[in-house]
Amino acid sequence: MPMMKLAQNILLNLPPELSHNVAINGLNAMGQLPGPINPLQGRKVAFLGRELANPIGLAAGLDKDAEAVLGLAKVGFGFVEVGTVTPKPQPGNPKPRLFRLREHNALINRMGFNNQGVEAMAGRLQRVRESGRVSNTLIGVNLGKNKDTPLESATDDYLIGMHRLYALADYFTLNLSSPNTPGLRQLQHGGALAELLGRVKEAQQRLANGRAVVPVLLKVAPDLDDEDIESIATALAASELDGLIATNTTLDRHAVQGHVHAKEAGGLSGAPLTQKSAEVVKKFRAKLPANMPIVGVGGISTPESALAMLAAGANLLQIYSSFIYKGPNLVQKLITSTRANN
Ligand SMILES: Cc1cc2nc3c(=O)[nH]c(=O)nc-3n(C[C@H](O)[C@H](O)[C@H](O)COP(=O)(O)O)c2cc1C
Repeated sequence: MPMMKLAQNILLNLPPELSHNVAINGLNAMGQLPGPINPLQGRKVAFLGRELANPIGLAAGLDKDAEAVLGLAKVGFGFVEVGTVTPKPQPGNPKPRLFRLREHNALINRMGFNNQGVEAMAGRLQRVRESGRVSNTLIGVNLGKNKDTPLESATDDYLIGMHRLYALADYFTLNLSSPNTPGLRQLQHGGALAELLGRVKEAQQRLANGRAVVPVLLKVAPDLDDEDIESIATALAASELDGLIATNTTLDRHAVQGHVHAKEAGGLSGAPLTQKSAEVVKKFRAKLPANMPIVGVGGISTPESALAMLAAGANLLQIYSSFIYKGPNLVQKLITSTRANN
């Protein structure tokens, strides 16, 4: 659609965070137009006890405050993940904190969980649910901890998010893998992870209270060695968590060395992640129970990279950076390319 292409070009010529805000406003406006909202039809896929119309989802971080859920659902995604949301609102890191590395089809961000908090998100998701306009697109909520919550109390923050949003989310993601909240990634390791997952699992049952249990997934970093992967997989299986999302952004700058923004602090996403994320998925697939779903994310931007992620063992896919660079038309393209496979 030429209009779409034009809008995309305009957006890519604005400063990155302004462009992000304009896009969210545009998507929000798109969602307000009347009419039914349905995912694009592709290869149907079973996920968390539901049947999705297609396996392509939007990754967390684009719609941190659930401001554009209807518009994003209208784009046709099979599932849309909002957040990361923290219990209290927080401003995130000072700007600039988002950088385009266009030559690499990549981004570096150190947003730092800027968001309006669980209460604001609950209000918006409530309105989405009440509108009755989204029923076939899964809405996941990605949960985080506030920057000023000590690491020892991090679990409490995840439980606050689950508690407040339990009736509004189709699934939760525990984000333990953002590089932009000091210490967060440590929670992926050893006893800290086992304890966190144990308490989350207990809360999941308690909050269900006779209603349907809301599934919980864990989102991990790509910067894990084999030992980390082994111990995370063991903890996931032992706690019977509902699934894995791999991966978040990377600290590795190998692929973008020499770029003017390469040394910016934060997480690198987009094309430099394609191979790395698929490798992490492949290693987890070999260790996790066969029926535990994996959502593959990281550098998926073409039919080839989508198929490679599925071949590595992912059941579903999410995109973020390529959606920024290529726009909504990419979603249909990826859905078509994954139609015949798996
Ligand atoms: C600007 C930006 C903000 C992000 N914010 C979040 C976030 O709040 N929570 C999260 O779990 N992941 C966040 N991510 C990571 C993405 O969800 C995704 O895991 C990562 O970018 C890799 O996918 P991609 O290569 O398709 O972008 C963010 C990524 C970007 C580029």
